[in-house]
Amino acid sequence: MLKRKVLWVAGIAAFAMVTLANAQTKPTFKADKALLKTIAADIRLGDEQYKLMAKELGPDRFPKTYDPKTDSLKTSGSDWWCSGFYPGTLLYLYKETKDEVLLTEAERIMKVLEKEQYNKTTHDLGFMMYCSFGNAQKIAPKAEYKDILLNSARSLASRFDPKVGCIRSWDSKRSEYLVIIDNMMNLELLFWASKVSGDPTFRNIAITHANTTMKHHFRPDFSSYHVINYDPQTGAVQQKRTAQGYSDASAWARGQAWGLYGYTVMYRETKDKKYLDQAQHIAEFILTNPNLPKDKIPYWDFNAPNIPNALRDASAGAVMASALLELCTYVPKASGQKYFNTAQTMVRSLSGAPYISKPGTNGGFLLGHSVGHIPQGTEVDVPLTYADYYFVESMIRYKAFAK
Ligand code: GLY
Repeated sequence: MLKRKVLWVAGIAAFAMVTLANAQTKPTFKADKALLKTIAADIRLGDEQYKLMAKELGPDRFPKTYDPKTDSLKTSGSDWWCSGFYPGTLLYLYKETKDEVLLTEAERIMKVLEKEQYNKTTHDLGFMMYCSFGNAQKIAPKAEYKDILLNSARSLASRFDPKVGCIRSWDSKRSEYLVIIDNMMNLELLFWASKVSGDPTFRNIAITHANTTMKHHFRPDFSSYHVINYDPQTGAVQQKRTAQGYSDASAWARGQAWGLYGYTVMYRETKDKKYLDQAQHIAEFILTNPNLPKDKIPYWDFNAPNIPNALRDASAGAVMASALLELCTYVPKASGQKYFNTAQTMVRSLSGAPYISKPGTNGGFLLGHSVGHIPQGTEVDVPLTYADYYFVESMIRYKAFAK
C-alpha cells in the first residue's frame, strides 16, 4: 500500500516537473489589467468605427485612407495591395464582439475581393487573400474559401524564379528582378497551402525565398534594405536600395517591422532555429535603437533626418507589437519579457492620444498618424488600413496573456 502511495507521489512529481519544463520552454507574461480594459474599449470603438466606415464605402470599393479636407474616404479597387485588411479587420472585430453586422460586411466585401485569387501581377496576395480569406477560414469558415486560398497561393507561387531564389515583388524592366522586404509577409499563405494541399512546393518556395532574403536584404546590424534588385538571369545582386525609406542606407521603419514579423512566422512554420535567431536580431536592432522613442512608436524611418521632429508611423508600431507578442512566446523568459514589455508599451501608446481616433471621426479608422510613402508624398500622416489591422491583431494577441 505504502509502495503504491510512494509511486503515486513520484508520478505526480514527475508530471509536475514535465509541466514545469514545458512552462519554461513556453514562457508566459502577465497582462496589465488596466490595459486589458483599454483594449476592451478600443474593440468596442473599432466595432462602431468600422460600421461607420462601411456606410461610407461605395459598393465595390475598399478603404485606403481618409481625407479630412473633404471629409471623405479615399478608396481603391480590389487589386490594391491593401484590399485584404478591411475584411481582415472586420473579421477580427467580429471574433471579439460577435457583432453579425461586421461579419455580413466582411462577407460582402470578400465577394468583391475573391477574383484576385487569379491575379498574377502582384506579390501582395498574402496580404490581400490571407489576411481576409485566411482569417475567415479560422473565424467563420465556408467551403469555398479553401479553393480561393489555394488558387491565391498558386498565383503567388507563379512569381517565384529558382534562378533568383525569390518571389518577384514588383514587375519592372526585363533587366531587373525586384524583391522587397515586405514580401516576407506573403509567405504565410504558402505554408497554409502546403498543409492543406499536401504539396510541399509552396512551403519550399517560402523557405527558399526567406533564405535568399536573409542573405541579401540584411546589413551587419540586422537592419534591412527595402529593395534588392537581382539579375534575373544569374540571381546576382545588382543593387540594394530603398523605395519608401529615407535613403538607400537607412532603416525604413515599416520594412524593419515586416522583417520582424516575417521571420517570426518563418520560425512558427518551420521550427528552424536560424529564423528565430534572425527575428531576435531584428528585434534587437529595433529595441536597442537610440532613435526608438519612449512610447515605442517608431519614426517613419530610424534614420529620418529631422528626428525628434520626424513623423511617427503608427502602422510600423502596430506590426511590431503584433510580431513581438508572438516572438516573446518562442524565446527564453528574459528576452521574452523585453519583447512583451515593448509590445505592451506600443499597444498602450496606440490606444491613447494622438493615435487613437475619437468616436465618429477619421472616416471610421481606428488609428491616425501612419505614413505610407514619404518619398512619393502620398499617404503621409494619415489613417491606413494596415495600421488598424495589425493594431487589432496585436490587441487580440495581448488578450491571450490575460489570466
Ligand atoms: N507593402 C507596402 C508598404 O508597406 O507600404
